[in-house]
Amino acid sequence: MSEKAKRVAAAAAVELVEDGMTLGIGTGSTAEYFIELLGQKVHAGLSVSGIATSDRSAALCRRLGISLTTLDDTPVLDLAVDGTDEFDGALNLIKGGGGALLREKIVAGAAKRFVIIADGSKQVDVLGAFPLPVEIIPMARQPIVQRLTDLGAAVTLRLDAEGAPFRTDEGHWILDGDFGPTISEPARLAGDISTWPGVVEHGLFCGMAERILMGSGDQLTIITG
Ligand code: A5P
Repeated sequence: MSEKAKRVAAAAAVELVEDGMTLGIGTGSTAEYFIELLGQKVHAGLSVSGIATSDRSAALCRRLGISLTTLDDTPVLDLAVDGTDEFDGALNLIKGGGGALLREKIVAGAAKRFVIIADGSKQVDVLGAFPLPVEIIPMARQPIVQRLTDLGAAVTLRLDAEGAPFRTDEGHWILDGDFGPTISEPARLAGDISTWPGVVEHGLFCGMAERILMGSGDQLTIITG
């Protein structure tokens, strides 16, 4: 099952961690395996400090005794490790299924190395089967829905369990734009969306990942693009 594959990928990422490193710590079920395995190493004496990309991951780090810092105190990180929702052969990503894309991109951008951990189900030829999250200021919802629709996406406002608009950790809303597997020029789409007023961030991560550590069953594949 993919749980084993996620753990294989996470274990490979933990091997990249050295004593004294500053880390970006991702969000999602695969990242939680990384945090769990990192916690075991910290318990055994490894000294690291991390910046978590979500309140949920920060809480897990605290529970496991992993020291947390901030970008104010540590503006450059040695290594960031995170999951992804999709990746293509050029290591472009769609992220944000867990709603943490903004903090994830900030942390990845501050890291000297950005390493993705994933099971094989995340590998695609062309991005877009996973709806693209776009984090927005609520006031700008309809103009941004219109622009995404004009580009061919079916757009939904992400809702929480109570049916209210889902709020990110930074208090924004998320539109999910379902393009289908048609995003053949992700950097171009990313550039377009970034210019739209009211967009805070989007889930296309282009030219950021150094490598993908991909688990398939108990096998590890390292993809460097
Ligand atoms: C969180 O906002 C996302 O970017 C996650 O990295 C992504 O959803 C991967 O999650 P899983 O590891 O649970 O698939």
